[in-house]
Amino acid sequence: MREGYEGTGPGAITPDGCAVELYARLPVGEEPDIIAAAVPAGAHILELGCGVGRMTHPLLERGFTVTAVDESADMLARVRGARTIRSSIEDLDLGEKFDVVMLASFLVHAGDEEVRRGLLRTCARHVADGGCVLIQREGPNHHTDVPRERVDPSGFTVRIASVEPAGEGVNSVHAEYVFPDAVWTQTFLSRPLTKEQFESALGEAGLEVDTYLTPDGMWVRAVPSA
Ligand SMILES: C[S@@+](CC[C@H](N)C(=O)[O-])C[C@H]1O[C@@H](n2cnc3c(N)ncnc32)[C@H](O)[C@@H]1O
Repeated sequence: MREGYEGTGPGAITPDGCAVELYARLPVGEEPDIIAAAVPAGAHILELGCGVGRMTHPLLERGFTVTAVDESADMLARVRGARTIRSSIEDLDLGEKFDVVMLASFLVHAGDEEVRRGLLRTCARHVADGGCVLIQREGPNHHTDVPRERVDPSGFTVRIASVEPAGEGVNSVHAEYVFPDAVWTQTFLSRPLTKEQFESALGEAGLEVDTYLTPDGMWVRAVPSA
């Protein structure tokens, strides 16, 4: 388990506290459409932190080729139709370039800044000339609009129960996922990043924002710095 990260509930739990069975149940939202609209048709996508393939599978259905990376073998065992690679993202060095590199699920907010630098360097190292990096970052009220909950139409409740300071610039976030037959929790470290801090972190890795893809600024298309 990564320090500061924890998960509870049935089934295997990844080093960052995610439950495999939970992610196998979570529906995918509009993400595959946002991605499909932002990249060339048929692109080869390097998906970092793919989990069980919640986004991988809809991307394959839309005609993309996906290389899916995760540090959890239990997660990767659920991925179908993509090349899978078990590795920490920070250490990944495939010696290949991709049309699109994707770092979703707010991983860019890693509590440890050195890990965050490693994640973004991996993105920069694997993006082809003329390619792009898609990043999903937190929304503006992620750490302040707490507690908050959402009842999903498919019949479960997701609740951000608490956000507590956990050191210099880092918060410990506690999330609960309540289904009729099971409850999962995840506690994880998240480092809020203002737009300026986010753009500066990209710059350190040799990347720059090309476009904020969504009005809330959460999905970003970045490219190698000019
Ligand atoms: C919150 S889950 C999201 C999975 C998937 N992106 C989705 O939206 O369903 C995060 C995933 O990233 C993986 N992960 C987190 N940090 C990682 C790291 N530094 N290196 C490799 N995998 C990581 C976890 O094992 C987990 O499967």
